[in-house]
Amino acid sequence: SRPAISVTARDPPVGHERSRRLTSVGCNSVEKKIYVNLNYTVPCVRLLNATHQIGCQSHLSGNVGVLHVLESEENLDWVLHSGLTPPYLVILESSLFTRYSEHTLKNGSSRVAGVAVVTPNANPSQGTSPHTSCPNENTGVYTENYDPTMARCNVTVWNPLGTGLSYEEFDFPIFAMKEDNDTQVIRQCYMDHNRAGNGSTPQYPLCAMQLYSHMSAVTDTATCMRRNNINFSLSPEMVCDPLSDFNVWASTRPLNNTAKGHKEGESVVLAAARLDSRSFFFDIAPGAESGVSGFVALLAAAHALRNATQEAPPPRNILYAFFHGETFDYIGSSRMVYDMEKNNFAVDLDNIHSVLEVGQVGLHAESRLWLHSDPVSRKNSSVNEESAASGLNVSVEEPGFSQPLPPSSFQRFLRARPIPGVVIEDHRSAFTNSFYESMYDNAEYLNISYPPDLTPDEQLEYVTDTAKALTEVATVVARTLYIQAGGAESRLGSINADPQMVTRILYGFLVRSNNSWFQQLIPSDLVSHLTDRPTNFYVGVAQQPGKPTLLVQYLLANLTGIVVSDTCFNNCVFVLLPQMYSYLWVQGAAPPNSTERVGFCMRSAARLSKALSPAFDLHEYTSKDYSTWTESRWKTIKGRIFLVASHELEMLTLGVGVGVLLTSLMLTYIMSSKADILFSSGREPANATY
Ligand SMILES: *[C@@H]1O[C@H](CO)[C@@H](O)[C@H](O)[C@H]1NC(C)=O
Ligand SMILES: *[C@@H]1O[C@H](CO)[C@@H](O)[C@H](O)[C@H]1NC(C)=O
Ligand SMILES: *[C@@H]1O[C@H](CO)[C@@H](O)[C@H](O)[C@H]1NC(C)=O
Ligand SMILES: *[C@@H]1O[C@H](CO)[C@@H](O)[C@H](O)[C@H]1NC(C)=O
Ligand SMILES: *[C@@H]1O[C@H](CO)[C@@H](O)[C@H](O)[C@H]1NC(C)=O
Ligand SMILES: *[C@@H]1O[C@H](CO)[C@@H](O)[C@H](O)[C@H]1NC(C)=O
Ligand SMILES: *[C@@H]1O[C@H](CO)[C@@H](O)[C@H](O)[C@H]1NC(C)=O
Ligand SMILES: *[C@@H]1O[C@H](CO)[C@@H](O)[C@H](O)[C@H]1NC(C)=O
Ligand SMILES: *[C@@H]1O[C@H](CO)[C@@H](O)[C@H](O)[C@H]1NC(C)=O
Ligand SMILES: *[C@@H]1O[C@H](CO)[C@@H](O)[C@H](O)[C@H]1NC(C)=O
Repeated sequence: SRPAISVTARDPPVGHERSRRLTSVGCNSVEKKIYVNLNYTVPCVRLLNATHQIGCQSHLSGNVGVLHVLESEENLDWVLHSGLTPPYLVILESSLFTRYSEHTLKNGSSRVAGVAVVTPNANPSQGTSPHTSCPNENTGVYTENYDPTMARCNVTVWNPLGTGLSYEEFDFPIFAMKEDNDTQVIRQCYMDHNRAGNGSTPQYPLCAMQLYSHMSAVTDTATCMRRNNINFSLSPEMVCDPLSDFNVWASTRPLNNTAKGHKEGESVVLAAARLDSRSFFFDIAPGAESGVSGFVALLAAAHALRNATQEAPPPRNILYAFFHGETFDYIGSSRMVYDMEKNNFAVDLDNIHSVLEVGQVGLHAESRLWLHSDPVSRKNSSVNEESAASGLNVSVEEPGFSQPLPPSSFQRFLRARPIPGVVIEDHRSAFTNSFYESMYDNAEYLNISYPPDLTPDEQLEYVTDTAKALTEVATVVARTLYIQAGGAESRLGSINADPQMVTRILYGFLVRSNNSWFQQLIPSDLVSHLTDRPTNFYVGVAQQPGKPTLLVQYLLANLTGIVVSDTCFNNCVFVLLPQMYSYLWVQGAAPPNSTERVGFCMRSAARLSKALSPAFDLHEYTSKDYSTWTESRWKTIKGRIFLVASHELEMLTLGVGVGVLLTSLMLTYIMSSKADILFSSGREPANATY
């Protein structure tokens, strides 16, 4: 299996003592070459699709360069032209990286051995997005056949700040580093050894850095899948894996999941949101607005609908679906559509009455939601959304001009057939999200902040303004779904999302998943999945459901299901109707008079379904219809700094070494050939023995 990067990259370092020693090392003590391993290093990795490879990589033995800390525009010239000791390993702030990376650094790659980007502790004031300006432009519904005037973001460029950096190819490693002691050590090493004062040239030994991120896969997905197969017959060494995870879904009325395909008389409203996100760097993908805002609103809406759909079930079913891998050409939704077409899902496309998708709903400044629909399919049928927002602070409007749908899972359903539907967003045309699919799309960007002296448990319960705003969105979503499912308008007043729930879920995903609430909601064997950091929503290549997937599944089960502990002991055994319900055992909370947790069994309709692109089942690695993204494998991800002697000195050392070797070889030769003379005394003549 793929080596776990976090283990390699965040292994306990060799120690602080070493870094302290390094900074006090004398200038000419070449012998005392000390390596300082870097603690927090997140690489940019190689991904491949049908036609391209993107991302970064190092040589097999790592890339070495003389450290150069880039502080302003002026000294970029040193790296690219005037510096006398290339190649350089450039350390820079992320704002400078965005500005230089594409043209200057990339083109100067003969003098650039690698780049380490220091990520700031606070978000920049200027918006920026490393994603493309027209996300998933080739795999949505707007092809030349569907409506040529709308293809390729012709009408609206959705992500105008997108630089496309995440889709570039770099032939050197690029790592992200946190502003912390490591970067302090690096800066100090640079100051002590590499800085040219007063126009003079810095003297050897110089401080150098080595980055390892060698990637096994090259060229494109077809090539690496072929190589996987060849290698597999010899030794099971794979070079790349398809991006994949699992979708999470549930329905308000349970569906027989054993009987696949069309269900007579079943009509479902599909309520969708996407789970995943990405950024330029491998495992930093907080996706606060681009993913989390939407799926948290949908989770809270599902919770708000639990009672109403039990007490006064609307005629239609509601199917909640959380799609994974949508960032990479709609992996999750295209797979569900494919499964529905192949009678491999609990319902089929004919069972779908309509679609309501929750997109980016961070609600910047103005409390307005926009209902986007597809101008082509809208001509025939529409979704009824009036009255859902009455009595709330948010208003719901339509963009009011003919505009295609923003990038959304719904597009994959439309691609299959003209199902009516809407996508709820907080923007009328282009995204208001100024950090789309970047590492800054985080809790800070959504203004999630807490009074300074709260304990983690108090923060968990503290209702932030963001949570209040998102609660209103969730209420609108819940009521719209209820009406869409044919429910009575008279009940709408009783459908309200719970701000407490919303604030907890936001805290759990964007601040700290290792909190007392999430701990109760999952089984004990998943506790290791909880962390004190924001969740990473990059889809990955796991054969097993990833952390966000499992958390969403258990949350959805908790928010829509019921507790059935009395029939279970320490596990969900003796279950009724397993075709209809899924049963999950969770560890629960400890009662006040005890430290032992009291677990329970949840019964719900929350299930997982594969989110692997159909291209890999069909072996169509050059598919134009389905996602073909794969991730390269790698062995080592690490970074370290050390002092290097000059090239001449190294050469001299080598030369002397070679000289010594040659001399000794010669001596050996002479001695052995003249051995009879040298060692003749007291010996028989050599040829007399045989
Ligand atoms: C590396 O990170 C760990 C955990 O945060 C910390 O304890 C350690 O001191 C760090 N080491 C360096 C060199 O920064
Ligand atoms: C593969 O990715 C590259 C880079 O984003 C893109 O230009 C190209 O169109 C993609 N190929 C396909 C078949 O989608
Ligand atoms: C960073 O260095 C400071 C002072 O040198 C020290 O107090 C602190 O514990 C270090 N932090 C980590 C994470 O090692
Ligand atoms: C640069 O020159 C000034 C005066 O000539 C001197 O005081 C200073 O120490 C020099 N700095 C370095 C880094 O050599
Ligand atoms: C679910 O479907 C399976 C296969 O069609 C069938 O055998 C089973 O009886 C169904 N279960 C229920 C509860 O309808
Ligand atoms: C709209 O309906 C007409 C007639 O029912 C049908 O021919 C056409 O394909 C439909 N268009 C779309 C986009 O659904
Ligand atoms: C966060 O606060 C700033 C300033 O108060 C505001 O401009 C911005 O729109 C807010 N963002 C969100 C997501 O509420
Ligand atoms: C999670 O928090 C608990 C305390 O609530 C702590 O004991 C545990 O070590 C933490 N787990 C991780 C992975 O940080
Ligand atoms: C959901 O979790 C809470 C604990 O926060 C628990 O009290 C409740 O019983 C759970 N409900 C279900 C259906 O699991
Ligand atoms: C804890 O309290 C509950 C009721 O409050 C009681 O049923 C249970 O026996 C107590 N457990 C212990 C270990 O005292």
